[in-house]
Amino acid sequence: MRYEAINPQLFINNRKRLLKEIKDQSLVVVNANDIMPTNSDGTMRFRQNSDLFYLTGIDQEETVLLLCPQFPDKKYREVLFVRETNDTIATWEGHKYTKEEARAASGIETVLWTSEFHKLLNTMMLMGDTQNVYLNTNDHYRADIVVETREMRFVKWCKEKYPLHNYERLAPIMHRLRSIKSTYEIEVMQQACDITEAAFRRILKFVKPGVTEFEIEAEFAHEFLRSRSRGFAYEPIIASGADSCVLHYIDNSKACKDGDILLLDVGAEYGNYNADMTRCIPVNGKFTKRQKEVYNAVLRIQRAAMKLLKPGVAYFDYHKEVQKITESELIKLKLIDKTDIKNQHPDRPLFMKYFMHGTGHQLGLDVHDVGNMYHKMQVGQVWTVEPGIYIKEEGLGIRIENNVVITKTGLKDLMKNIPIEAEEIEDLMN
Ligand code: GLY
Ligand code: MN
Ligand code: MN
Repeated sequence: MRYEAINPQLFINNRKRLLKEIKDQSLVVVNANDIMPTNSDGTMRFRQNSDLFYLTGIDQEETVLLLCPQFPDKKYREVLFVRETNDTIATWEGHKYTKEEARAASGIETVLWTSEFHKLLNTMMLMGDTQNVYLNTNDHYRADIVVETREMRFVKWCKEKYPLHNYERLAPIMHRLRSIKSTYEIEVMQQACDITEAAFRRILKFVKPGVTEFEIEAEFAHEFLRSRSRGFAYEPIIASGADSCVLHYIDNSKACKDGDILLLDVGAEYGNYNADMTRCIPVNGKFTKRQKEVYNAVLRIQRAAMKLLKPGVAYFDYHKEVQKITESELIKLKLIDKTDIKNQHPDRPLFMKYFMHGTGHQLGLDVHDVGNMYHKMQVGQVWTVEPGIYIKEEGLGIRIENNVVITKTGLKDLMKNIPIEAEEIEDLMN
């Protein structure tokens, strides 16, 4: 892989934690993602299923993990299946995992070819006293999936072939486990943030009136790729001028104008983990008075929000607090009026015109990572802290986004080295 090998102890520990959560006489199956088609015979770049990666560290299509912890033959209690290669695959696609490499990467002793999966599964289902079958689904609450994944094809097939077993959802367990990051994972995420930092510092030297948003995107890409990242963690938002108010602007097609603000919501992927950064900079290297006023308001909100993030806090209570803090900053900016607030409709508070998105989300193998938003915050979770103020009538949108780990003793800011003070940004640009 392009990235440095991840310590297989991470994946060994993850499987151990999973086995503690399942019922007796159970079997677990987790499938790789498909290589997704584009048009004609085109394909997208492969992106591993996050749960499979979390449990195995195997970054290759057609991989299957089979766990059957009480199977009589100990050798098969934990089995990894990988795609069997041949000369044609080697000629056209290149190297695939050997069994030894798959063993080393995952820490799983028994590695078989994927073609052998159904036979072993059948033995386990019928001869292994298996009662419960844990299958995986994408249960992210905002996922809206119209394509059938390899996992869903398997779920359908399995339930039809073995209709009388008891089926269980793996997803809620995976969400709980993945939500709490281990030190191995924090290290990889720190690398994603460090790569993002290097690119941002490069951009500070590069931006000036006349450069295009896509040239800036190219600078980010260059720095990411040379640092062993496979690219953007998500479609980068490089939004100058009024487009800084368009929350998901990804066209990145304009030239940046003198006097405009430039909002950069860009993060690097590294080893399948993600960074999610937002910074706002003045195109000409000097914030206007108004830009700085709004910028500093958002920075104050971010700092106040970070003070609220603690184990035991409920996200939606925290978000409400941040909305209140934003409301008071909006009053100071004379964007809303104290007396009007008294008469506002409770379902349509006035601040919503200027701050209409969430304060953050969990981050990890997915940018909008799994983890139940209604559950209290816990030590080991990584959250983004991303307040914003968007003033459409002024063509001025400011968002500032850092990635922080919740620890016993406070927050660990994975982006603490990324310039954030308005003056520091100006100094670095000039
Ligand atoms: N870049 C996506 C987000 O901030 O949630
Ligand atoms: Mn985010
Ligand atoms: Mn973001």
